[in-house]
Amino acid sequence: MPKFVQSSIDEVLRRCDLPEIASSYMQLRRNGTDFVGLCPFHREKTPSFHISADKQLFYCFGCGSGGNLIDFIKKIENLDFVDTIRFLAERSGVTLEEEVYSPEVQKKHDERERIYKMNKLAAKKYVANLPGEDAKHAQEYAKGRGLTRDIITKYGIGFAKESWSDMCDYLRENVFENDEIVTAGLAVRNEKGHVYDKFRNRLMFPVIDVRGNVIAFSGRALDDSPAKYMNSPETPVFHKGDNLFGLNVAKQYGIKDGLILVEGNMDAVSLNTFGFPNAVAGLGTALTENQASLLKRYSSMVYVCYDGDEAGQKAAAKAIDILSAAGVKLKVLSYTGAKDPDEFLRKKGVESFKAVMASALTATEYKIMKVRQSYNLVSSQDKADFIDKAAEILAENPNPVEREIYIKRIAKETDISVASIAAQVNKIIHSKNRKEFKKAEREAKTVPGMPQKTPRAGVMPQAASTASYKTERMLLNLMFFSNPAFRVAKAELTPEEFSTDTHRALFEAMLSFKSEGESCDASLFFSTLPDELKTYAADILYKEYIGDAVVAIKDNIGKIKKQKLTERINQLAAEGRLSEINELIKKENERRNNRD
Ligand code: GTP
Ligand code: MN
Repeated sequence: MPKFVQSSIDEVLRRCDLPEIASSYMQLRRNGTDFVGLCPFHREKTPSFHISADKQLFYCFGCGSGGNLIDFIKKIENLDFVDTIRFLAERSGVTLEEEVYSPEVQKKHDERERIYKMNKLAAKKYVANLPGEDAKHAQEYAKGRGLTRDIITKYGIGFAKESWSDMCDYLRENVFENDEIVTAGLAVRNEKGHVYDKFRNRLMFPVIDVRGNVIAFSGRALDDSPAKYMNSPETPVFHKGDNLFGLNVAKQYGIKDGLILVEGNMDAVSLNTFGFPNAVAGLGTALTENQASLLKRYSSMVYVCYDGDEAGQKAAAKAIDILSAAGVKLKVLSYTGAKDPDEFLRKKGVESFKAVMASALTATEYKIMKVRQSYNLVSSQDKADFIDKAAEILAENPNPVEREIYIKRIAKETDISVASIAAQVNKIIHSKNRKEFKKAEREAKTVPGMPQKTPRAGVMPQAASTASYKTERMLLNLMFFSNPAFRVAKAELTPEEFSTDTHRALFEAMLSFKSEGESCDASLFFSTLPDELKTYAADILYKEYIGDAVVAIKDNIGKIKKQKLTERINQLAAEGRLSEINELIKKENERRNNRD
């Protein structure tokens, strides 16, 4: 991946105007120096999406997304950073300057480029093999599984010949060396040092990333042999847990409204055949966090549609937890009468599948349905046990309205009163809160000024000092937009004095950004921030405090120091270290006298 010289990125940002570019994607209404419109990143009826023309920042008060022009384009065009810069450079006529690589980085880069090239050649060869005379059985198999010519072309499905050297010979002719072919995972070296083709007599599915690079292969056996699939090993360009099969194809269609996540390559391909091009498959591993964030990046909703067998349902439960933890909105498709979505579509047709989609379950509904299956609700004991289990699930749901809806349903179904079920759920929530609260207190005691963690869903926010939180937010704003205030903060504060990791990181980022040139350009600042800080930074920097910044920042610094001091004194007092307290107070008085 190329790395651009920072000055060319800055140049791109200087030449582009965020409101102007954004208005080619959405309707914007002027409101003073701001522009306002319906947020393109979440559904809303009243506009809460704001763009500040002078700061060149956007912020949505509805969904909290925010950032500079680069972040806007990244999000709306589904591009990665590099492609976003290229896109904007082209639009604004800036010639991008690339950074020079160190020899090691250059070597790695070249190795990866060679593998991409080799993979592409191999993929083309597999495709060319499929119509061959020696591939009649593969053609039959593909036909038997309902793969049309069109779908075969869309996914680039091909055939690996029944040969030990067909692919290796071909790649060597194209001046690739044995070592490289093995590294790329297209060949295997045995103990005797002999190199032979990895994929033999298989239907070949290339795994293609969103940029169109062939990164791996998945080969389906043409019979019921136990090794049904053979996948590429981990290579310099392929990490199973970071990719999804079919995303490249799905991406060409409207996938903002939903992706269907399935287990098998065949399921994804088959869904596409039946008119659902928005299907992707994991690559034979349990869903990973990285895959979850990839899904989140491309779609606002994921429909989980795993195999119907026990293994599939277990995998689905895990996937649901991982997706929820990653903040992905999801629904679960629940079907009967077929082992997987591929078979379901063939047996029952498109309309039935649409009906399944329409009655998709929320994660909570799905989990409750699953536990219900193991109880006979006619028996009183089973009823009580079922309600226990269901209450556990409900207590995880942070939304009180949703909880109430489900409680009412369960009450109706079991003929137990809403009040007793609600009491059961609340009991669990309270006990969780207490545990969480105690844990927070323990942590706060062991490390003074510990960063506050985001509270878990359904759990009370921990007793954080909201006063110092607000003070720090204001301080960060002041030091960013006022250079005199910045100099005061730089001289008087250290990162350790902030109460959260996020504030600490922002303070450090501002120090390094502003230390040369004292720029107050928020848009340029954003291009130096890591993604996880952007939303929060946009929230802090979107508005500017008015008034005397230096007076205000001194006041804020005083409050922060006082808070720290109080914490420290309490701790020393608890440990009975009274002389140290006196020492501390003396030092603080000296500090104040020196300053005033
Ligand atoms: P069929 O419908 O039976 O042709 O397969 P499928 O594409 O639906 O795949 P299935 O749901 O059985 O398996 C899900 C995924 O697990 C596959 O797409 C593969 O990536 C992976 N997988 C399945 N079987 C094997 C195997 O034998 N070895 C390896 N390494 N991976 C496998
Ligand atoms: Mn299957």
